[in-house]
Amino acid sequence: MSDVRPVLRAAFDAVADRYDPFDVDYFQPVGRRVVELAGIRAGDAVLDVGCGRGAALFPAAAAAGRDGRAVGIDLSEAMVAATAAEVRALGLPGVEVLRMDGQDPDFPAGSFDAVIGSMSVHMLPDTGAAFARFRELLRPGGRLCVSAPTTVLTPRPLIFGLASIAKWVTEYESGTRVYPQSSAFGGEERVLADLRTAGFRVAAVRDEVLHLTAASGRALVDWTWTHGMRLFWERVPADRRAEVAADIEAEAETHRDPDTGLVTIPTMVSYVVGR
Ligand SMILES: C[S@@+](CC[C@H](N)C(=O)[O-])C[C@H]1O[C@@H](n2cnc3c(N)ncnc32)[C@H](O)[C@@H]1O
Repeated sequence: MSDVRPVLRAAFDAVADRYDPFDVDYFQPVGRRVVELAGIRAGDAVLDVGCGRGAALFPAAAAAGRDGRAVGIDLSEAMVAATAAEVRALGLPGVEVLRMDGQDPDFPAGSFDAVIGSMSVHMLPDTGAAFARFRELLRPGGRLCVSAPTTVLTPRPLIFGLASIAKWVTEYESGTRVYPQSSAFGGEERVLADLRTAGFRVAAVRDEVLHLTAASGRALVDWTWTHGMRLFWERVPADRRAEVAADIEAEAETHRDPDTGLVTIPTMVSYVVGR
């Protein structure tokens, strides 16, 4: 596969100011779960790879506390600028955001107690090599937790819990791995082998259901323009976008929860944990 990093960087630069709007809940709960599974404790030094707007970085900083340190790195300058501004506005001590490639983070060996990455590490060109580099960055007893969206294939293909997204993404594949069309990180067997080769003693893959919620089917479609799926939309010819959007919106609306009034869709998220 060719190096897709310049494409990803441009895509995330374009969405940084409206990334992950509040009327769809998806990245934030996944980020919190990553922090929980990484077992971040007060005083920990944490590296968040592909931190974006901080869905995992801010909960990690809260868990690490005043005596800890949380460093977020991201390929996108605009993401880094927006998140760094938020860190300044919140006056968070011990939190830093840097522009850096997550494939090979430039820190001395043994700098961190935990390396995390939510919905980002699956986009790296070589995840096996990245896990090996993350292992070097950890101190003895260090922990890893990364998450990725993972595709449900049976009884029919679903992406973000919807058959319509799976169908259209197949038609307008962008080759960038930002949305999944197979198991995350090449599947459980492959990722466990990669982690063992990297030197992790304990490794596990946990596929968990996450309920994505959206104010409406329309809000969900708008949300797909605010993250990596933007690359999919850019490939859909302009004269077909309304038809594709209507298809996704209609299927999303079949998931309205009568109690909450929200569109509520079960999606699968894969969490990879190493120690
Ligand atoms: C879907 S967003 C996730 C952001 C955040 N972790 C969250 O959960 O909301 C993916 C992020 O990974 C970043 N990214 C993609 N490739 C990267 C790379 N090679 N190095 C560092 N960051 C990268 C993107 O710029 C983007 O901010």
